[in-house]
Amino acid sequence: MLNLSKIKCFKRSTSYLCSNVMNLIRLRCDSKLKKIRPFKFLTWHHGFMYFKAQSRDGENVFIKVDTQIFCIENEAHICSLLNSKSFISAPNVKFFKKYNGMSVVIFDYIDGEALKSKSLREKPELVIDAFKILKEFTRLGLCHRDIKFDNFILTDKLILIDFTYVEKLPLYNNDLILAKAPDRIEKDLGFHLSVSPRAWNDYYSFNRMIDEAFGNSNVDCQYYHDIYQIKKECNDRANNQQYTFCSKGNVIN
Ligand SMILES: Nc1ncnc2c1ncn2[C@@H]1O[C@H](COP(=O)(O)OP(=O)(O)OP(=O)(O)O)[C@@H](O)[C@H]1O
Ligand SMILES: [Mg+2]
Repeated sequence: MLNLSKIKCFKRSTSYLCSNVMNLIRLRCDSKLKKIRPFKFLTWHHGFMYFKAQSRDGENVFIKVDTQIFCIENEAHICSLLNSKSFISAPNVKFFKKYNGMSVVIFDYIDGEALKSKSLREKPELVIDAFKILKEFTRLGLCHRDIKFDNFILTDKLILIDFTYVEKLPLYNNDLILAKAPDRIEKDLGFHLSVSPRAWNDYYSFNRMIDEAFGNSNVDCQYYHDIYQIKKECNDRANNQQYTFCSKGNVIN
């Protein structure tokens, strides 16, 4: 059933698609793509649109297109960094290019499903896998800022996605230069998963995910101890400024 927000989204997506049609044609030629088709057409938001296509060698690819260039540039930058650091739990970047008013990043297509509360309850060992990925990500001095079920895709392993709003953690001395997310996006980034407005701690968000999945229900005995330890470590890290990125001077008020 179509409702008002779907109609608005359809209108916005269609007009965005039409205004970028030449860019999309250029993209098709530059990256020699076949069978480009919109992906999740009615979920356009924050200026992003998604496509699925086939590369010249027949591989499926996922395309993320953005008009707010700095955001997607961050994503391409971080993802390439992760690829170069052999961080195996991130998608592989195939292509990044800025067109006039539009930026594009192309990834290998991940054939899987977003993580859900239910998947954690059925396979509590996924909490352990996801936590390992998060710790590895932190070790590189990064704060994801959008840790939530949707941003973990489950294939034969877990993959962390969506690096648009990644920032550097305050106590790490690396020379990464990242773009600042637009103010209006930062304001609602994370909702109940951020520590406080404009402060993000991936362990705080991860802890909320565990609570959402298990609530008061019992964790499979075999994993009870592991998950208890993970929650404890999450709590410690959630209360540690070293793991918190705050967009207002790195200080939580
Ligand atoms: N490499 C990929 N292969 C296949 N599907 C993908 C890939 N990357 C992302 N997706 C799908 O596209 C959706 C949106 O991607 P992503 O999370 O990167 O964008 P987003 O606009 O920041 O979304 P959101 O704000 O909802 O988190 C994901 O939930 C996932 O289903
Ligand atoms: Mg996402």
